[in-house]
Parts: sequence; C-alpha cells; structure tokens
Amino acid sequence: MVSSSEMPYFVRPSINIADAEKVEIYAKAQAEIDALLQGETHPILKMATINCLLKTHLTYYYWTGFYLVHEEHLIVGPYQGTLGCLHIDFDRGVCGKAAREKMTQIVTDTHALEQGKDHIACDPNSQSEIVVPVFNGKKELIAVFDVDSSEKNSFNHIDQTYSESILNHHFSQE
Ligand code: SME
Repeated sequence: MVSSSEMPYFVRPSINIADAEKVEIYAKAQAEIDALLQGETHPILKMATINCLLKTHLTYYYWTGFYLVHEEHLIVGPYQGTLGCLHIDFDRGVCGKAAREKMTQIVTDTHALEQGKDHIACDPNSQSEIVVPVFNGKKELIAVFDVDSSEKNSFNHIDQTYSESILNHHFSQE
C-alpha cells in the first residue's frame, strides 16, 4: 500500500486545543453518544457512531477508528480517515502494544518511535496518537480504538479518561 502525505479533499489537518476546551467538548460529545446509542447493541453500529461523533467534535482527531481482534491479530474495523492498514500483528505498532498490554497508549511524537516496529504509519501525516483497548462484558479484549492527529502532542490524560469512559460504558457492561 502506497501512502501519500497529500491530504485528500475530505481530510483536514488537526488543530490542537486547550485542556479546558477538551473537557467541555468531550462532555458534550459523550452526552450525544450516550443518547444516540441508548438501547443499541450491535458493536459495529456503536463503533461507527463513536467514530463519527468524536471526529465531528474534536478538531485534532485526524484518523479515527477501531481495529478488531480477529484470529490472533488485529484487523481494520469501522474508521474515518485515509486508508488504514488492513492487518496489524500484536507484536507491532502502537495498536499491537495497546492490545498486548491491555493498556491505553499515548504517543506525543509518533516519528520518535521505530517505524514499522513500534509505530506503523498508515498515513505519513500522523504525528501523535492515542490507542485505547476495548473490552466486552466478560473483560475480554475485542478491539482497540485508535486516533491519530496530524499535530504532535495532541493527546493527554483527558483523552484517555473520556475515551476509556465512553468505550467502557458502551462495550464493557454485561
Ligand atoms: N499507527 C497505528 C497503525 C494504525 S494507523 O495509524 C490507522 C500503529 O502504530 O499501530
């Protein structure tokens, strides 16, 4: 797969925001997601909706999507953005680390990581990233939620807190 740094017409560069604005926007987005997904059970429907609403509200969300656990590795699931890698082994990339360790990964500068091993650049514009493990009601890993920004330092504890809360509420309750 050949990835170009040229952004297609439907993709815009990330814009970082202050923590206070992040909290305000996440609270609003979380309320919208909770209202829309009330009573919904299908995971793909929930993933697609979460992608859409978080990417709509958060200006630094560049590539937003889920990688699903399938046959001992990760496969691309619902996402918004440029072409995402189709398969990711658990021993590669930020997604593989989040899956292996079952812990959220925040990367302030993706280019500081060993490319191809510790970071997989599906899009060369990716500069920072957060990857959050997703568990079902039995606490089994079912996916990871992956967000890239085209700016460095876009993600911090606020993104971790809100994305873990949203994903736990919609995927990890029995
Ligand atoms: N950057 C991820 C790969 C997925 S693309 O960003 C959509 C990683 O290093 O695992």
